[in-house]
Amino acid sequence: MHRIHMAHRHRPHSFQGRSSRVYDVLARRLHRPIYRKLARDVADLAPRQARVLDVGTGPGVLLIELAGRRPDLTLAGVDLSADMVAVAQHNLSAAGVPGTVQIGDARQLPFPDGSFDLIVSSFSLHHWDDPDSAIPELARVLRPGGRLCIYDLRLAPFQMLVDEADRRSLFTGAPVQRVAMKSRLPLLPRAIRQIMTVPGPAAVPD
Ligand SMILES: C[S@@+](CC[C@H](N)C(=O)[O-])C[C@H]1O[C@@H](n2cnc3c(N)ncnc32)[C@H](O)[C@@H]1O
Repeated sequence: MHRIHMAHRHRPHSFQGRSSRVYDVLARRLHRPIYRKLARDVADLAPRQARVLDVGTGPGVLLIELAGRRPDLTLAGVDLSADMVAVAQHNLSAAGVPGTVQIGDARQLPFPDGSFDLIVSSFSLHHWDDPDSAIPELARVLRPGGRLCIYDLRLAPFQMLVDEADRRSLFTGAPVQRVAMKSRLPLLPRAIRQIMTVPGPAAVPD
């Protein structure tokens, strides 16, 4: 297991109470350009009128930036932290974004099978306790042909997701795409985008 993952999992307090409020301010102000960049990227991937889920949405800034670029999308977010969910709901409402955000765990998502065309997640994977047990859930709530697009720091457990998907014969719709990108975070500049695809009709980007 990667050191960064060992250090950051099992730490729910990092995103509760005052920590959630500090994270919110940093995300909305200091780190806003990161979410603009990710939203541009996701906007290019999302099919027309896609249903998009952001797992570990935190304060929901990616959803807000995405809504500004793609008002045709139906947006939802989940997060393990009730405080983060409250912050995200406030932020979406203040920005006039009609998405929904609720409490949810990547390992047990509160949605029926096939609910989404695209799942995104930013800088959350390295906090998940058991990334491998999230894989069947992420595949379950995607429709046939749907895609999972995860952005995180370079040392997040991306390969663990791929290994578990291989073991269970999930996400076999297309070869895994993994590309390096700049995180724009000053101390941790290297990030990765990994896309995994459920078998089914190819999603046509807008
Ligand atoms: C570093 S924050 C990233 C928030 C947001 N995606 C962003 O880019 O600003 C990580 C978030 O993942 C959430 N999280 C951690 N483990 C999770 C899990 N198993 N399921 C859903 N959310 C989780 C945390 O509560 C936290 O809000």
